[in-house]
Amino acid sequence: MELLKIENLCKTYGKGESQVMALDDVTLSVEKGEFVAIIGSSGSGKSTLLHIVGGVDVPTSGKVYLDGQDVYAQKNEKLAIFRRRQVGLIYQFYNLIPTLNVVENITLPVLMDKREVNKERLEELLEMLGLSNRRNHLPNQLSGGQQQRVSIGRALMNAPAVMLADEPTGNLDSQNGQEIIKLMKESNKKYGQTLIVVTHDENIALQADRIIGISDGKISRNERVR
Ligand SMILES: Nc1ncnc2c1ncn2[C@@H]1O[C@H](COP(=O)(O)OP(=O)(O)O)[C@@H](O)[C@H]1O
Ligand SMILES: [Mg+2]
Repeated sequence: MELLKIENLCKTYGKGESQVMALDDVTLSVEKGEFVAIIGSSGSGKSTLLHIVGGVDVPTSGKVYLDGQDVYAQKNEKLAIFRRRQVGLIYQFYNLIPTLNVVENITLPVLMDKREVNKERLEELLEMLGLSNRRNHLPNQLSGGQQQRVSIGRALMNAPAVMLADEPTGNLDSQNGQEIIKLMKESNKKYGQTLIVVTHDENIALQADRIIGISDGKISRNERVR
């Protein structure tokens, strides 16, 4: 089943001579439960693509459909709810709230949504992420790998339709990086979680179902690995 459909997506930044075409007519479809790796050199448009899919940046033209819903046909308030419920974003530098502990960071999207925390899911995630005995720690009391695991928990807490990770291992050594990818693959298997991961690491890309290459804002490669 098709989960994500991107049609003729274009994004330009700036005006006049300083204008940059970050995405140039990108058309792409992702199946539910698929694990897709996006590769490409720096400045090729990878982050822009993730941000637009995630509803945190708006396209200049083109369409994004998630689960059949035209994402940018939604009004601001609905778009904000869409972001909280349907998308889990993971960044290179974790983006945790420094004054909140592990459990508070993980449950923040649920509380912001004024919904009740599913305690069972929380415990299951803490267990899966190896954070059960770190639940009251603050981010600065955790290693980089642990902090990234917290951000995975936060991304998964609302059981989003798609998890978008922008170079999630870019700040970690290879062992911790592989551990993070292993956890993402586990959530992909266990929950059928659709995963789109931007990476520089060929080893990580080769673990995906499909590799998509971006070059100068265009898709330059679209290759099924398994
Ligand atoms: N907010 C912005 N304002 C102006 N230009 C931007 C902005 N964000 C990205 N760009 C430009 O768009 C292009 C693609 O950027 P980005 O998507 O971040 O690339 P990548 O993630 O592949 O390194 C780059 O040339 C970058 O300089
Ligand atoms: Mg980037």
